[in-house]
Amino acid sequence: MKIEKVAVIGAGTMGAGIAGQVANAGIDVWLLDLPTDDNPNALAERGLERLRDPNAPGLISKEAEQYIRLGNTRDDFSVLGDCDWIAEAVVERLDVKQDLYRRLDDTCHADAIVSSNTSTIPIRLLVEDMPESFRRRFAITHFFNPVRFMRLLELVRGDDTDPAIIELLADFCEQQLGKGVVPCRDTPGFLGNRVGVYAIQCALHAAFDMDLTPLEADAIFGRPMGIPKTGVFGLYDLIGIDLMSDVVQSLVEILPPADAFHREAAKIPLMTRMIENGQTGNKQGQGFYRVGDGGREVLNLASGEYESAPPRLALPLAERAEQDGVSLLLEDDGRYGEYAWRVLSRTLAYAASLIPEVDDGPLGIDDAMKLGYNWIQGPFELLDEIGVDAFVARLEDEGAEVPEFLAQAAGSSFYRVSGDKLEARRHGGEWRPIERPAGVIRFSEKRRTLTAQNSCAVASWYDLDGVALVEFHSKANALDGDSMGILADALDAVAAKGMRGLVVHNDAQHFSCGVNLGVVRDFYRRDDLDGLDRFLADFQQTVHRMAAAEFPVVAAPVGLSIGGGFEVVLHAQQVICHANSVMGLVESLVGVVPGGGGCKETLYRWIEKLGCGDDIGEACRKAFMNLGYGKTASSPVIARAQAMLRPHDRYVINRDRILGEALAAIDDPASRTRFARPPLAMPGRPLFEDMLKWLEKSHADGQFFAHDVCVGSEIACIVTGGDIEPGTSWSEQDLFDAERRAFLTLVQTDATRARIDGMLDAGAPVRN
Ligand code: NAI
Repeated sequence: MKIEKVAVIGAGTMGAGIAGQVANAGIDVWLLDLPTDDNPNALAERGLERLRDPNAPGLISKEAEQYIRLGNTRDDFSVLGDCDWIAEAVVERLDVKQDLYRRLDDTCHADAIVSSNTSTIPIRLLVEDMPESFRRRFAITHFFNPVRFMRLLELVRGDDTDPAIIELLADFCEQQLGKGVVPCRDTPGFLGNRVGVYAIQCALHAAFDMDLTPLEADAIFGRPMGIPKTGVFGLYDLIGIDLMSDVVQSLVEILPPADAFHREAAKIPLMTRMIENGQTGNKQGQGFYRVGDGGREVLNLASGEYESAPPRLALPLAERAEQDGVSLLLEDDGRYGEYAWRVLSRTLAYAASLIPEVDDGPLGIDDAMKLGYNWIQGPFELLDEIGVDAFVARLEDEGAEVPEFLAQAAGSSFYRVSGDKLEARRHGGEWRPIERPAGVIRFSEKRRTLTAQNSCAVASWYDLDGVALVEFHSKANALDGDSMGILADALDAVAAKGMRGLVVHNDAQHFSCGVNLGVVRDFYRRDDLDGLDRFLADFQQTVHRMAAAEFPVVAAPVGLSIGGGFEVVLHAQQVICHANSVMGLVESLVGVVPGGGGCKETLYRWIEKLGCGDDIGEACRKAFMNLGYGKTASSPVIARAQAMLRPHDRYVINRDRILGEALAAIDDPASRTRFARPPLAMPGRPLFEDMLKWLEKSHADGQFFAHDVCVGSEIACIVTGGDIEPGTSWSEQDLFDAERRAFLTLVQTDATRARIDGMLDAGAPVRN
């Protein structure tokens, strides 16, 4: 059987999200909710409306909407007779779900799969009254919110579920919906929420007990631990303090009385008052944080009053730990070290205590925390980094209990490399190789079995069976001369050794957030403009070599590729990116222009896309707009419409399959699309002057700040050729030179320097 037609019942947060992701995969999906009086499909329509939210678009493009059909469970129930998979995402009430299953059993075809998105109800209760013929095709498919962006899918098998159904659902959700499928047992909270909510609660209670401010707690329980920067209080605000409190309460109800979770679940009076006052987080505009008249504010946990807060708290310890590893936090004998130990020791020991109840080894929990909570490392990977023995010794010093699975790893680790395989320890001590579905390669795992051919602090390159893989690995994967040096070295090596090609890829959250502005600032603060010019010229020449190489060069970006990061992508001969990749040239926002071939390439891309002959004026206007507004595309489909990607560039819905696809593309002749750019007849003075007038007028109308006009003028000068005779021929090199001239001009202005300072020191560009 194949899953070709899908229905989702319940068009709330999760149901709409699931339907959206099915549509993103190009598969027909019905989205049904309860009928309402005036307009029977109003609830389903509201679900679709939420998918259109520009701040969190659930769909990769407007076109994806055509796959979604809206209806209600009174008038349209019969359509389910034709569906192969019905995903139930109605309210978390057993009676409502059970009523629905009875109706489904009467309507669906005999092979139709039914699954529930429940977070808390055990599968055996869900189907207790259902016939065996229904139970064998029933499972829990527990998606995470927002469905398009969260990679985790917990797939729970009931006692009676046919293994073939589980396999079918796993393949479909992994390959078509792009999820990282983690098989789970029918245990309370499954894996992600069981450990994730426990960790959050530990971080919350420890902060209250130790009188830490939300800013301090979030600075520690965040990036330094490889946890998203929202930390704990920011996460509570993001999810909603009321909703998170409900989640905690539901875990309290379903976990056995002896579970350690109960010790971290007590209600905090201040938070009860906050919920009563409507201070429930971002959706109400105020929670632990809010934006007041004078900027960002944070709640004083003792007084309950808001106080002004810096955009971020720069704790030297946290910054060093983010760079050098979590152990540094634990070595600190101050309050922050104590906080880090309290949270981590409890969380990691709790995770270990769940084995073998929830799984027979570390992989499920680690995957769940990485894919469902965006942790960089799972609890057992963190334990390996800290060192099992050191961790156990400290637990013993404190008289804390050492879980059996942790004790079993004494003198050893939870993962090891054996030959070219990564292995995980099983409960009982046996080692088992980590098997991923065919075609799935996570570079963060693969890397552990490889030795870098050349490496520095910010980038490395590896030989993957004759293909050079360049990995950036600095903070936010910011690029500097050393990153480009590694890329250049790999390009040299592929040519010299006759390797098959080169792939630029990394498994971090973001491919690259651009050139390290700190490096740029250092140059101009030293008055070393010649050095800055050489840095830019080297960058341009290196990316140019990617485009012109005799061998295939593929960029495989995930997450953000912006600024200089996107300039690297733009010069690959083929791009194979993720369906959620976000890309664009945002330099104007920090008062500079793309100086690594981005302006040049944007212009050529628009010329190609519009099919301009000699008259390139329209392409110049398009490039001017993209660059001037610092446009980003929130999906590859949008990027293609914006000439940021070319027709032969592709996207893949599962980010774990991007590397495999990129490596396969190296051997595909279609990816050999080396390109050299021909000279252009530049439109010159008349168009340049038009653009300047438009900038002045827009400024006078209040649309732009003064410095936007200055930056926009420089962009106009590059894409038109500036004050030159129309038709003057410019080579690719002339465009490269124009980019660098504009870049150097702008960094000498106070306004650009203020924007760069804002970005580096406060994390936000200054509008001036
Ligand atoms: P929601 O409250 O946003 O949406 C539930 C929808 O179900 C509503 O639109 C409601 O009108 C509809 N509904 C209620 N009874 C119905 C019926 N008999 N037939 C058709 N539609 C009906 O709820 P949400 O958050 O989307 O949760 C849905 C399920 O997903 C729950 O089981 C929940 O535990 C689970 N879940 C929720 C997550 C979240 O972050 N919100 C995360 C993972 C799972």
